[in-house]
Amino acid sequence: MAGYRSWVFFLTVCAVSLFGANAEIKVTIPVGKLFTYELLRETFQNDFEPLSKLYAGRLYDDPMVFKCNRQNFPDLPEWLRFTQRHPYDNGFLYGTPTSPGKSIIEIYAINKRSYEAARHILVIKATAEKMLPYQAEFFIKLREIEKVLPSSVQDEIKQDLQKLWDTEALEIVNITNALDRGGRVPLPLAGHFEGVYVKVGSEQYFSDCLLRVMTAEHQKQCATGAKVKVPGGCNFCNIPSNCITWCKTELIDLTKQEPAPPAPTMGSGVLEDGGDFDPPESPPSRDFFPDYIVTVIVPLILAIVLCLLLAYIMFGRREGVMKRNAKTNQIQLYHHHTIHGNSDELRNMAAERGAPPPLSTLPMFNSRTGDRAPPLQSDSPTIPLIMAQHDPYSDTLPRK
Ligand SMILES: *[C@@H]1O[C@H](CO)[C@@H](O)[C@H](O)[C@H]1NC(C)=O
Repeated sequence: MAGYRSWVFFLTVCAVSLFGANAEIKVTIPVGKLFTYELLRETFQNDFEPLSKLYAGRLYDDPMVFKCNRQNFPDLPEWLRFTQRHPYDNGFLYGTPTSPGKSIIEIYAINKRSYEAARHILVIKATAEKMLPYQAEFFIKLREIEKVLPSSVQDEIKQDLQKLWDTEALEIVNITNALDRGGRVPLPLAGHFEGVYVKVGSEQYFSDCLLRVMTAEHQKQCATGAKVKVPGGCNFCNIPSNCITWCKTELIDLTKQEPAPPAPTMGSGVLEDGGDFDPPESPPSRDFFPDYIVTVIVPLILAIVLCLLLAYIMFGRREGVMKRNAKTNQIQLYHHHTIHGNSDELRNMAAERGAPPPLSTLPMFNSRTGDRAPPLQSDSPTIPLIMAQHDPYSDTLPRK
C-alpha cells in the first residue's frame, strides 16, 4: 500500500513538473472586441499544493495576488488591463486589442499565506477583423468593473442592450472602469459604486431609441443636469444595477469618420551635402574698463567717503569730559557724583556679605573724608541733620 502511494506521489510530481510549472494557455481573439480572461485562484491553488488534496486530504483557500506583464517587458501591452479587488477574489485580464499580433503574458500568482509563487503563460493571438461600424457607449452607474467582467453579467448587460438596439447582432467592444476615465473614487458606503463604461458595436444602424440621443431635446434636457429617465418604450433594464445612465450615452458612427491624415513621409535619414564647414570667427574684443569702474572703483570710493565721515563724527567732534564738566554747574555735578557713589556702594554690598554698612546709614558723616561727627544730643526733628554753619560744601551752590 505504501509502495503504491509513493508511486502515485512520484508520478504526480513528474506530471506537475512537466505540465503544471509550464502551464501555457493559448487564446485567439478578434481585433476590436472585448477580451476577458479570469485568473481563477482555484487553478493556482492546485499549483501551490498539488498533492495536499490527494495526499493529506486538505483543501486550502489562500489569499493570492497576481502580477501580470508581457514576457520580457515590465508592463502589460497597452490595450490589456488587469484588475483584482481583493486577494480573496479572482483577477481579471481584460481589454480590446486594436491591431493584430501575438502577446505573451506572464502571470505570477503569489500565495499570501506561504509566499510561494507560481507562473502561468498566456499567449494571446489577435487576428484582424473589420471594426464594427456603429458603436455606442453606455454608462452603468451602479456597477464595479470586477462585477461586470464575469461572462454571465456581460451577457445580462448585452441582452438589455440588444433590446435597446433592436438587434441580435451586437458585440461588446470595450468595458472601462469609470475611475480610468476621470471618475471619482466613491465613498465607502453602501450604494456608492465606481461606475463602468460599456461600449458595444454592431453592423446594424442605430435603433430609433438610440437615435433619440442625437436630438436637440435630449441635449437640452441633459444640459440642465436634471435626472433624465430613459424615454418610455426604450427602458429595457431588468436588473436595476444594470441600468444605464441615459444622459451619458454616446453614439459613434465610424462610417462617418474622416480617414486619418497620411503618415509623414520618411526621408533617407542622411542630411544633404551643404559644402565645407566654415567655423565662425572669434568675436571682436571688448573694452571692460568702464564696467570695471562702475563695479569696483565707484563702490570703493563710496566706502572710503563713508569711512572718513564716520571717523570724523567719532573722533573729531567729541567734546572731552573736562570741557563738559567745566560747563556743568556744581550742584548738578555733585548730585551726579553721589548717584555714582551710591550705586558703587550698593554694588559692593551685593558682591560680598561682609562689606561694611553704607556710610549714609550712620548718623552723621562726611562723604568726602569719611569723618563722623559726634552723634547729636537731641533727636528733635527741628534740628537739621546737617548744620548749615558747619557745612564745608557751601561752595557747591549754583554759581551765578
Ligand atoms: C477601451 O477603453 C480604454 C479606456 O478608456 C481605451 O484606452 C481604449 O482605447 C478603448 N479601446 C477601444 C478599442 O475602444
